[in-house]
Amino acid sequence: MTEAITYLKSNQSIFPGEGKPIRGFIFACTDKSERECFERLLFATDKMYGSIVTRIRKGDILFLNNVDTDTIYGIFMSVSDGGVNIDHHAFNGRYPYQVKVEPLANRIAIPNARKILAKFSARRNTPLFGERLLYFLDEFRPKHLALVKDSQDATSDELISKLADKIRANNAEVDIEEEIPLIESTTFWDFPKQSYGITKKGNNKYPGVTPALIIYNMIWRYTDPGDLVVDPMCGSGTTIDVCLAEKRKAKGYDIVSTRPDIIQNDARKIPLEDNSVDMVFIDSPYGDNIKYNNHPDNIGNISAESENFYDELEKVMVECHRILKDGKALGWLIGDQWVKREFTPVGFGIYDRLCKYFEPVDIICVNRRSQSSNTDVWHNRARRFNFYLRGFKYLLIVRKTSTSVTNCNNRKIQWAYYERSGQ
Ligand SMILES: C[S@@+](CC[C@H](N)C(=O)[O-])C[C@H]1O[C@@H](n2cnc3c(N)ncnc32)[C@H](O)[C@@H]1O
Repeated sequence: MTEAITYLKSNQSIFPGEGKPIRGFIFACTDKSERECFERLLFATDKMYGSIVTRIRKGDILFLNNVDTDTIYGIFMSVSDGGVNIDHHAFNGRYPYQVKVEPLANRIAIPNARKILAKFSARRNTPLFGERLLYFLDEFRPKHLALVKDSQDATSDELISKLADKIRANNAEVDIEEEIPLIESTTFWDFPKQSYGITKKGNNKYPGVTPALIIYNMIWRYTDPGDLVVDPMCGSGTTIDVCLAEKRKAKGYDIVSTRPDIIQNDARKIPLEDNSVDMVFIDSPYGDNIKYNNHPDNIGNISAESENFYDELEKVMVECHRILKDGKALGWLIGDQWVKREFTPVGFGIYDRLCKYFEPVDIICVNRRSQSSNTDVWHNRARRFNFYLRGFKYLLIVRKTSTSVTNCNNRKIQWAYYERSGQ
């Protein structure tokens, strides 16, 4: 009998994750990797699902889906929190996001996994929770397993019932199911809400607050858990909150501190050592369109129509470049301006300056949803007076390179031409 069963049977408070909701997570394996999962008692995946694995707590319930044989194995309990490289040698280093597991009894194999997962709308990025987890566990009861060869030793009804009681007890207060977002795969990002998950990220009443999923995507693309992320113009602290939720270290500064963990500081001089930071995220003012505060050094009081605006932000870029480690990324969110019948391509201006110091990585178009001008009156004005409301922002992603200073204007692009056959 495993340690885990002893915990359950004795119903003692030593049950891991005591008091916290118990969630169910589904891992995938192939015919190639299945054996190693069971020999090492380690379930693992790559960075794509890192945000899910790092949320697993000791005491959560786990299942393993062999996608080649369409089988689902249960019932396992996590005996470690999910983490990175718990076992460096496992899976030849291909699957660094890992969790240690224990079977709750002899292994049960259920066929037709795809059908069962579809029946419960069970996806790898959504933990099974509350009633859905209980119904899912029910599939492992002996009465459903009559046709399965190795189900004779199946986990007893009694064990599943005890586990179900534990889940009900721990989940009593919780009725929110947290969907864990997958990272974006295209250069068009559209987030309907400012925040994600159960906890608040930043303050959605703060003028110009950043959609938290922009930072989430940057973090999961360009850093690993434990890395240091810096936001030199942190406003209401969205970057700090996302970093905490995703297990990164964070330092947030602003010219006016809005909460105790934001350090009052001018972004043109960041109090950090050279080459010490793993990623910088910055959502700077886009000109003087938003009134953030009256601080005399607030760059948001300078018009984007003046060269001075870009000169001052260039000083911030130089600092970001100095503190970043070699090869590490910076994400700069910026929007264009249309004021008093004048269009100003602020994004291109910022990109031009960034390219004096950094190597371009990519440009993301972020849908601008929560504009104050997103009203029928403004949409009608835009049509009648022949101008456009701002529909998107740029997320400019660049990287510090070992050669340090590059210049986009001088970049030689190796265009690839593809021959077309039969035309
Ligand atoms: C678009 S807001 C940032 C929003 C923030 N990411 C959030 O989610 O709440 C831009 C911020 O830049 C700050 N700022 C302007 N000039 C600054 C300077 N010289 N140094 C540091 N921060 C500055 C403003 O106070 C404002 O909070």
